[in-house]
Amino acid sequence: EEAPLKELYKDAFHIGAAVNPKTIESQRSLLAYHFNSLTAENEMKFSSVHPQQERYTFEDADVIASFAREKGMALRGHTLVWHNQTPDWLFENETGGQVERSVLLERLKAHIQTVVGRYKDVIYAWDVVNEVISDDADDENAFLRPSKWLDIAGEDFIAKAFEFAHEADPQALLFYNDYNESDPHKRERIYRLVRSLLDQGVPIHGVGLQAHWNLYDPSLDDMRAAIERYAQLGLQLQLTELDVSVFRSEDRRTDLVQPSQEMLELQAERYESIFRLLHEYKEHISAVTFWGAADDYTWLDNFPVRGRKNWPFLFDELHRPKEAYQRVARIAVPK
Ligand code: G3I
Repeated sequence: EEAPLKELYKDAFHIGAAVNPKTIESQRSLLAYHFNSLTAENEMKFSSVHPQQERYTFEDADVIASFAREKGMALRGHTLVWHNQTPDWLFENETGGQVERSVLLERLKAHIQTVVGRYKDVIYAWDVVNEVISDDADDENAFLRPSKWLDIAGEDFIAKAFEFAHEADPQALLFYNDYNESDPHKRERIYRLVRSLLDQGVPIHGVGLQAHWNLYDPSLDDMRAAIERYAQLGLQLQLTELDVSVFRSEDRRTDLVQPSQEMLELQAERYESIFRLLHEYKEHISAVTFWGAADDYTWLDNFPVRGRKNWPFLFDELHRPKEAYQRVARIAVPK
């Protein structure tokens, strides 16, 4: 049997996977064998745990927390503030109008205290704020993404979220998490945000690079430049949602029922280069989490086209190691 990834990389970083209650069942032995860290794919998001003001729903999140406790795996919390999967009630007052800033911040505080407090014993790191940086490539003054958070509370909902999370669990490592993190424009915006939080004395301990990549993009140079730049913040870095799609980002074809040999070869090379790069920066990188575990389930099966199968991981649909696994495993072994 193949060597566990978590063992091969134990001197470098944690090896994580995003899970949900279904994959905890269907991928149970694969998860326990190769991974030593987990993230809830959707189950700890605002809408999942707090759909109504007076009602918290922790059943699914608890399933994931219990699995992590049972197996002694590290658990990352995802996520406290986001523009998606956030319920409307949060931004509304009793008459259906927009809530006041102070009320929104009180609600945020109550939410964070309840959710972070509940999993204090098992969650060691939280993605406190997710994806607040603008993707706008045309406007060079663009900075924060437009959102209800920003509209109602102004920029400092970000700092407040970190402060509330720190109060709720002073031991947790607090992350800012984003995608397109290797894009040069976005990279500098993310850097600027985190730098300003640090300058204000906000409790923030890490930057999460989602790393939703594909066979061609981003370039290794851009990945390296991003890691170097974020490392200058003096914070720890984690890859939080790694996957390598076999399609180009503009490709919308839906006819493939299995990946071509060429795709699998390119993917293996790509993963090898990525892990070589990560290994070079292992002093800065504390965890590498895949956004799933094996090709039988990935969010990319429904993105950007609904029902289009993808094969982004190191393990195939039957949980067998792919060529990409072999390459990643081989380079982990010190010469
Ligand atoms: O729960 C419903 C279910 O009742 C319904 O039958 C089904 C059919 O449409 O939809 C289910 O909801 C879906 C949900 O995932 C749970 O599977 C939503 O439609 C779907 O939009 C949602 O997608 C999630 C997405 O975040 C939402 O933005 C993905 O699973 C999840 O992988 C993805 O994760 C995000 C990270 O949190 C942040 N970074 C990007 C990453 C990928 O988009």
